[in-house]
Amino acid sequence: EIFRQISQISLDSMRKKLVVLSGAGISAESGIRTFRDTGGLWENYDILDVASPMGWAKNPALVLDFYNQRRRQLFSVEPNAGHKALAELEKYFDVVIITQNVDNLHERAGSTNVLHLHGELLKVRSTLDPNLVYHWEKDLHLGDKCEKGSQLRPHIVWFYEEVPMMEVAAIEAQTADIFMVVGTSMVVYPAAGLINYVAREVPKFVIDVEQPNINLNYYHNLTFIQEKAGVALPKLAQKLIETYAN
Ligand code: APR
Repeated sequence: EIFRQISQISLDSMRKKLVVLSGAGISAESGIRTFRDTGGLWENYDILDVASPMGWAKNPALVLDFYNQRRRQLFSVEPNAGHKALAELEKYFDVVIITQNVDNLHERAGSTNVLHLHGELLKVRSTLDPNLVYHWEKDLHLGDKCEKGSQLRPHIVWFYEEVPMMEVAAIEAQTADIFMVVGTSMVVYPAAGLINYVAREVPKFVIDVEQPNINLNYYHNLTFIQEKAGVALPKLAQKLIETYAN
């Protein structure tokens, strides 16, 4: 009986794991454009020109220019209430943020466990050796080379490229006690498939100003909150603390 009580106490004191999949929508209120909304980034560009190995082979200067502009923007934007609410939840839960975003706003809000599925604007890597990754804040130009003498490229996952962090992300989704999806259209795979790894009984929350591209009725225990991330997340965070924190 004592053993049962002790193990119950240690179980109770174990924090629940909150896994969050975020997309461009969470950074929209910080002033970073999404991809597929009206006025989204992909409206002005041919996606494959700036975000594919073929585009890079065809016109690397255009690709560098596209990411240089986006990198520069990071220095003039701030995390919003949505990012901050997720960071605050680390006091109560083991929070894992799986983001498709290449900005650094989750980290700047204070989140410490952020997995960047699609890379990071503030990193570049060698085109010869993908393990040579460097922190990079200024513009990247043709002629900027790695220590082995090869051209550097943005550390971004392009279309047609593999998503190296996907396996880790899938394990996180599988082991979630609570799962949240924020600000993603759920059209880009494999990221959009992560929700399928989440256990049936696990409470799931989807926050988006529009209905994302998944059948919300298909999932058990799912709540759709149709609201801006910066408005919905502080409220949901409070509710999660009241309902699920130990
Ligand atoms: N709050 C919540 N959701 C919002 C907000 C907001 N303030 N503003 C927009 N949204 C929602 C939109 O309704 C949309 O569902 O955010 C989503 C943004 O979707 P996309 O632009 O498709 O962005 P994302 O899903 O992150 O794109 C996935 O596509 O091009 C690639 O690699 C790029 O990581 C990106 C991937």
